[in-house]
Amino acid sequence: MSLINALDFDGKKVLVCGASDGIGYGVAKAFLEAGADVSITGTRTADAYDNDFSGMQFHTLDIQDPAMITELATKFDSLDVLVNCIGSVLWKKAEFEREGFEKILSINLTGAMQLCTEFYDLLEASGGNIVNLDSVVSIRPALNNPAYSASKAGLVQLTKTLAMKWGPRGIRVNTVAPGMVPTKLTANQSSPEQIEQITNTIPLRRVGSPQDIAGGVLFFASPLAAYITGQQLVIDGGVTL
Ligand SMILES: NC(=O)c1ccc[n+]([C@@H]2O[C@H](COP(=O)([O-])OP(=O)(O)OC[C@H]3O[C@@H](n4cnc5c(N)ncnc54)[C@H](OP(=O)(O)O)[C@@H]3O)[C@@H](O)[C@H]2O)c1
Repeated sequence: MSLINALDFDGKKVLVCGASDGIGYGVAKAFLEAGADVSITGTRTADAYDNDFSGMQFHTLDIQDPAMITELATKFDSLDVLVNCIGSVLWKKAEFEREGFEKILSINLTGAMQLCTEFYDLLEASGGNIVNLDSVVSIRPALNNPAYSASKAGLVQLTKTLAMKWGPRGIRVNTVAPGMVPTKLTANQSSPEQIEQITNTIPLRRVGSPQDIAGGVLFFASPLAAYITGQQLVIDGGVTL
C-alpha cells in the first residue's frame, strides 16, 4: 500500500474517549478532518459543553463505572481505532490520601484497562489498534501527584503488556506522552506567569497544543505505524531531554 494516503481514515470507525474537551477534542477533530467516522465520550451530556461536536457521535461515560464501559461497547458493531484520552488529577495533597489515590488510579489506569478489554473483540475483528495517552510524568514524576504519576507510568507498562499479548491477534497498542498542554486539567498551572516560566524550560520554547498531540495519535493509528507496537511517543517540545 502507498504511504502517501496513510492519514486518510475514510471508512474507519474511531472512538476517542475523553474528547469532550482539551487534547481529546483536538484528537477527535483531527480524525474527523481525516475522514473517520468519529465517536467521542465525556462525563456529561453533549449539550453541557461549549464545544462543537457536529459530525461526531457523543456518548456519556464515567470510566469509574464498570457497567457504563460495558454498555458503551455494546453500542458499537465494529471499531478500527480506540483512543483513550481520559485523565484526571487531584490537587492539594488529595492524592496522598487513599481515597484520592484510588480515584485517580481508577480513572487513569483501571478504567483504561477495562476500556481496552471491552473493545478487544471488535479490534481483533478489524485488525485495529489502541492509542493511550500517558504523560511525561511517567518519565519524570510530578512532585505533588503520586497517583497521577504512578497511574501514567502504569499505563505505559499496561500498553506494553497488551501490545505483547494482543500482537499475535493483530492488535497494535501504543501510547503518547504529552508535555504541557493548557487545558482544564492544567488550569491551575496556566496563568500567564506560570506559562512563561514553563515555556523557559522547554527547548522548543512553547507549550503544546491539542493539535501537536493529535499528530502523534494519528501517526500511531495509521498504517505509517503498521510495524510499531508497545511504544511510547513523547511529544513535549523536548522538556524531558
Ligand atoms: N494537558 C496536559 O498538559 C497533559 C499532559 C500530559 C498528559 N495529559 C493527558 O492527556 C489526556 C487528556 O487530558 P486534557 O489535558 O485534555 O484534560 P481535559 O481537558 O480535562 O480532558 C479530560 C477528558 O477526560 C474526561 N474525563 C475526566 N474524568 C473522567 C471520568 N471519570 N470518566 C470519563 N471521562 C473522564 C473529561 O470529561 P469531562 O470534560 O466531562 O470532564 C475530558 O473529556 C489525559 O489522559 C491527561 O492525563 C495531559
